[in-house]
Amino acid sequence: MKIVLFLVVCCCVYSSIKATVSYDDKAIIINGRRRILMSGSIHYPRSTPQMWPDLIKKAKDGGLDVIQTYVFWNGHEPSPGKYNFEGRYDLVKFIKLIQEAGLYAHLRVGPYVCAEWNFGGLPVWLKYVPGMSFRTDNEPFKIAMQRFTEKIVNMMKSENLFEPQGGPIIMSQIENEYGPVEWDIGAPGKAYSKWAAHMADGLKTGVPWIMCKQEDAPDPMIDTCNGFYCEKFTPNKPYKPKMFTELWTGWFTEFGGPIPTRPVEDIAYAVARFIQNNGSFVNYYMYHGGTNFGRTAGGLFITTSYDYDAPIDEYGLLNEPKWGHLRDLHSTIKLVEPALVSAYPTVTYPGKNQEIHVFKPKSGICAAFLSNYDPHFSARMKFGNTQYHLPPWSISILHSCKDEVFNTAKIKAPTTQKKMTPVGKFRWQSYKEEAPSSEESDTLAMIGLYEQLNVTRDASDYLWYLAEVDISPNEHFFTNGQFPLLTVMSAGHALHVFINNQMAGTVWGSLKNPKLTFSQNVKLRAGVNKISLLSVSVGLANVGTHFETYNVGILGPITLKGLNEGTRDLTKQQWSYKVGLNGETLGLHTLDGSSSVEWLQGSIVAQKQPLTWYKTTFNAPKGNEPLAFDMNGMGKGQIWVNGEGLGRYWPANKAHGNCDECSYTGIYNENKCNRYCGDPSQRWYHVPRSWLKPNDNLLVIFEEWGSLPDWITLVKRTI
Ligand SMILES: *[C@@H]1O[C@H](CO)[C@@H](O)[C@H](O)[C@H]1NC(C)=O
Ligand SMILES: *[C@@H]1O[C@H](CO)[C@@H](O)[C@H](O)[C@H]1NC(C)=O
Repeated sequence: MKIVLFLVVCCCVYSSIKATVSYDDKAIIINGRRRILMSGSIHYPRSTPQMWPDLIKKAKDGGLDVIQTYVFWNGHEPSPGKYNFEGRYDLVKFIKLIQEAGLYAHLRVGPYVCAEWNFGGLPVWLKYVPGMSFRTDNEPFKIAMQRFTEKIVNMMKSENLFEPQGGPIIMSQIENEYGPVEWDIGAPGKAYSKWAAHMADGLKTGVPWIMCKQEDAPDPMIDTCNGFYCEKFTPNKPYKPKMFTELWTGWFTEFGGPIPTRPVEDIAYAVARFIQNNGSFVNYYMYHGGTNFGRTAGGLFITTSYDYDAPIDEYGLLNEPKWGHLRDLHSTIKLVEPALVSAYPTVTYPGKNQEIHVFKPKSGICAAFLSNYDPHFSARMKFGNTQYHLPPWSISILHSCKDEVFNTAKIKAPTTQKKMTPVGKFRWQSYKEEAPSSEESDTLAMIGLYEQLNVTRDASDYLWYLAEVDISPNEHFFTNGQFPLLTVMSAGHALHVFINNQMAGTVWGSLKNPKLTFSQNVKLRAGVNKISLLSVSVGLANVGTHFETYNVGILGPITLKGLNEGTRDLTKQQWSYKVGLNGETLGLHTLDGSSSVEWLQGSIVAQKQPLTWYKTTFNAPKGNEPLAFDMNGMGKGQIWVNGEGLGRYWPANKAHGNCDECSYTGIYNENKCNRYCGDPSQRWYHVPRSWLKPNDNLLVIFEEWGSLPDWITLVKRTI
């Protein structure tokens, strides 16, 4: 307890002189005071600047002390040296709003972030810098990473945003979940970690750096834990605090998968269990998940919604009772914070699956945690002179070691139901996207098959592979009716096959298996046949050792089987390439671009044709409820409003999986409490209010499959 007294003295002497952030084995120390900090992740580009103040206020009302965010390099530097800190990427504004609300910020610079974000946040152009190899002891990578990290740190410093400067940032992060990669690659990984730690430390931010999920994080970096539970984690040095940087409040959704949820009783249990075991910092990942607008979703097949079953839902509304129950937990932790920061717990074991943790510093205050780990049975526990009742899988927190202020499984917060109420339908016009001809000037002829990203540099999801195939009139299949079998092997992620401009089929992969094979008998004619393959990416990999080397697109082989000659290999013949769609080149999703072509309307609107652009205009509904498009019935494509990308839609990709009953008790994993099996993985697509004008908003969709837009409705989200 000597340490504590010393700190109290410290506090009086130094706090008036200079704001400081440091740490010891118990906690982060801000201005001489140890703190138990509750934090939540809100990623600024996953909402709009107009939403930020309300999200931050709801985080504060929910009892958070800190808001944590990643920094999204590929959003900030879309091409080398060309920076973007505007709009949703206005990082300084976001941090200043956190400060104005009286909260702290935890800035995870990365700059690799994972985050179900395209390419894990690294710019695609970075891959093509000569000699580049990501996240290892590689000079080009280290130079680029240092340059961007310095840029961000200097920007924060010049705005006085670090705590010692009077700002809100109390902590940063370098790299992200590097442990598993280092384990994989060995020595160069170790050298890189050391370099990253040293580089970051040298930037002299005046606040601690963390390295999450990295057991060997070099001093003075604090290694921290990410997971559903972290009570068993201990930092790598006895003088570092025990921190939980990502407590997963739910899980992401993939196209083709159901919607994961996590019961709040179990989240509160994970928090209480962590805190009673010396934990002093908990960050909810996510506190507000938000939306992967445009083409920012990454990791393959990640949905546009990044709701995450977070305490604040995708639309910015409270997800009750999750938000309220955690607020009650946070106010309880605040109540007992003086005891928690001043003593180690004394642990006793009153029965099987039962524990009592008592924090009783000399000052006379006292806090106790009574735990019942049994997943099936409730428990009666005697403590002091009182009997306490604990539901299964729950922890009670006692103020003054007497009053039960909170039990993780006893929810007092209200439950609310949300619904989507239709407020508008549309009259559509159409524009047909044609398969290009290899004669067009913007096609590129090459021998053989090329990896998709190498050709598109991710300027578009779409890459055409075009070839011509000569068929002799003497082929036997003309007489026996056995059309040849076309087989196309692709590294992913989706593929539309056209033969002589007629759609022959569509195939797609999944997050677990992005590779795909098209194999179908195709109707060919005598003479020249056009084979047009539209390969579609659905977000780039965000995780895995050297994920930058993962392939996308058609790498072959491509064969035609059942000709007189046997099987013809088309893999090494001439292929022409065209990046993107005509409609993208014309900017059909923008106001100017959309008026550059003739759209069909009325009775001649395109009927069930693949690759069709649809547009309409609409007025914003009155009120301020959040809005969304109900895309049920549509195939796959993208949506824009007034030129802003809402994201990829794919309601035809239905949720496969197991949606069995969900109990809050017992160890949770992301497959445990799934919902909406058999329904679209994502049906509703958020359109932020601030993107709308009162009248004449331009809504454009590009539909790949040929579904009719007649059922699309604008809906309000109401409680
Ligand atoms: C808390 O930390 C102290 C000091 O490191 C240690 O002795 C004790 O075992 C820890 N208690 C728990 C419950 O983790
Ligand atoms: C990328 O494309 C270029 C031609 O544009 C080619 O020379 C190079 O070999 C390709 N690289 C890979 C890895 O496919």
